[in-house]
Amino acid sequence: MTKALVTGCAGFIGSHLTQRLLKDGVTVIGVDGFVDNYDVAAKLRNLAEIGSHPAFTFHSTMLQAERWNDWLDGVDVVYHLAALPGVRNSWGKAFSEYVNHNILATQLLLEACLQRPKPPVIVVSSSSSVYGTMQGTLTDESAPLRPVSPYGVTKEAMEQVCSVYVKAYGLPITMLRYFTVYGPRQRPDMAFHRFFRQMMKGDPVVVYGDGQQSRDFTYVTDAVEANILAGRHAAPGEIFNVGGNREIKLIDVLHIMGKLMNVTPKISFQPGPAGDSLRTCADIRLAEQRLGYRPQVSLEEGLRRQLADMRFHPRS
Ligand code: UGA
Repeated sequence: MTKALVTGCAGFIGSHLTQRLLKDGVTVIGVDGFVDNYDVAAKLRNLAEIGSHPAFTFHSTMLQAERWNDWLDGVDVVYHLAALPGVRNSWGKAFSEYVNHNILATQLLLEACLQRPKPPVIVVSSSSSVYGTMQGTLTDESAPLRPVSPYGVTKEAMEQVCSVYVKAYGLPITMLRYFTVYGPRQRPDMAFHRFFRQMMKGDPVVVYGDGQQSRDFTYVTDAVEANILAGRHAAPGEIFNVGGNREIKLIDVLHIMGKLMNVTPKISFQPGPAGDSLRTCADIRLAEQRLGYRPQVSLEEGLRRQLADMRFHPRS
């Protein structure tokens, strides 16, 4: 691959992916609309290490801007990470924005790719939230989709839109269902970012519910690697779980964080917000077999790196 388009390049995962592609010698066109879900300064910081790279061209605009012909010229792989993320804020009036950014903008991207003489490979970011709360053993990609948040509904619909473009036109689209990604530059609304920040200030850590909910947390460079592998090896229409290969309860993560910071976290349990999945646990065998995906970074090591990054950037 010589040229890639990354949508959402100033976001958490998108900025790490862009950095990795540039390191690999790929020319990157980055597009980011700075969707107003958190501080623009934090997103600019995400771009700080890549913004001046000679192989990087940045467009600060929404995907709806209809400049696709410029953006897609000569592009081999599109990594589509632009979205309005976060499960807990997707209720009420916000829902139409989620529909706009997660479904409608994706369909515009697919139409634009379809117009190319040779459509690029398209790697689309989806989410474990399409499954809702998982039951029983590990969840593979054939499990029923039962989202419990409006956000999850938009991600499921986005997948369906992609699937019909694969079936009707053979567009080479693959979808990655990330499981709660963490690490340096994690979005400020997400749990680990908030917990570390609260502990640094000596404030109580706000845990939604009883802390017994579990997640299959995934380190950000493992999610990036899944994108690279999918861009190389996936077949049109394939969908993969991208998990960290370890399910853990939130309360147990807090103990690890406390040890890393040498403090005993004070915890304030508060009523859980609607839309929160109680359990996620990924079966990643398909990604292992088809793509060679294997998570590399343990939770302890990943948390240590996130903490180091947050200490280095105290106001983010
Ligand atoms: C995250 C992302 O926000 C979604 O965009 C993404 O689609 C999803 O992962 C996914 O990968 O499936 P979530 O699992 O809710 O969603 O991630 P966190 O915000 O890190 O929350 C993890 C758990 O901590 C949740 O149970 C949440 O309720 C809890 N939490 C979060 C707290 O107890 N306190 C907080 O201050 C924040």
